[in-house]
Amino acid sequence: FVAAEALGLPVTWQDGLDVPFPVHGAAVLADQVQVDPGSLVESLAREARAAGAVLVDGARVAHVDLVGSPRVRLADGRRVRPRSVVVATNGTILDRSGAFADTEAQRSYIVAYRHRTPPSIMALSAGSPSISVRDAVAPDETPVVLVGGHGHVVGRTRSEVAHVDALRAWAAEHLPEAEEIAAWSAQDRTTSDGLPRFGRLTVSPHVRHATGMAKWGFTNGPAAALAIAGDILGDAPAWHARMERGRPVTATVRRRVTLNASVARELVSGWVRAVATGPSSPRPGRGAVHREGVRLVADADDGEREHRVSPVCTHLGGILRWNDLEQTWDCPLHGSRFSPDGEVLDGPATAPLGCPGRARDGSDLR
Ligand code: FES
Repeated sequence: FVAAEALGLPVTWQDGLDVPFPVHGAAVLADQVQVDPGSLVESLAREARAAGAVLVDGARVAHVDLVGSPRVRLADGRRVRPRSVVVATNGTILDRSGAFADTEAQRSYIVAYRHRTPPSIMALSAGSPSISVRDAVAPDETPVVLVGGHGHVVGRTRSEVAHVDALRAWAAEHLPEAEEIAAWSAQDRTTSDGLPRFGRLTVSPHVRHATGMAKWGFTNGPAAALAIAGDILGDAPAWHARMERGRPVTATVRRRVTLNASVARELVSGWVRAVATGPSSPRPGRGAVHREGVRLVADADDGEREHRVSPVCTHLGGILRWNDLEQTWDCPLHGSRFSPDGEVLDGPATAPLGCPGRARDGSDLR
């Protein structure tokens, strides 16, 4: 509340709210709007095309050269030579930028409920685990309430389903009339100082990136876009330079050390656990990493068929863990994610998982 007031936001303090869950006090900002991100992106794409932009989707970038003029290699081997490159891949895929080591990937969950009288509010709890509540409208125009939160570092939990169940338990207690219609999870990154990171890479003046939106993409995303577009057009906004100068250096270094110490711990414990685990057959909907002779394998049963891939993340060698909600292999080091058959779903990894014993191209695994 104090921070919002200091920034000039017209917030008020209220000891209670007209909502069906306990409130001990709330910083309230009146007249907020809700925007449907899907429609927003569609209309932005329409406007961009109308202005002459060519939008291409379904082409995964596997590599960006940072030396000399920019060159981009796609996963299918094709090459592109653009004038400038903006990498906005959530988890930055450029290893030499070091951005992956300055961010932590977080997963969080949402359950959508049909509700006759949903609380007409957008609210975010303080404390941990966080809970957020907002109302919405279903495609059939019926009122909906979205309950979200229970975030954690990607791959560092015993069960992702348990987090959704915790949200369900909260809703059952406070919104007993709610009827669940959907549940899903999402992924975003926070930087070591909590501020998004965007702009030029020091290693290459033609390549810019944006990451660490910390689940505030609706504000941080446009800020990144304005700064990057301004920089490319030779009219960089002054506030961006001020923001970079104002980063809290000491706290950031401390946080970065802690962050990377936990990554190192996960790396070691993942390998030790995998090597010490004997063969097992996963139940439907489950995946298991184990040793088979001298090799490590990741077996998964997605309910329809069984898959076997290498459990070694193609980014920097972390041992993957099974995500029992999304039925994916998630990396607890920097948050890369893979489908049960090894295709990349989230970076920073850009290469699919290999097959145990040999890689997909037939060469030996690393
Ligand atoms: Fe970096 Fe897996 S994402 S090692």
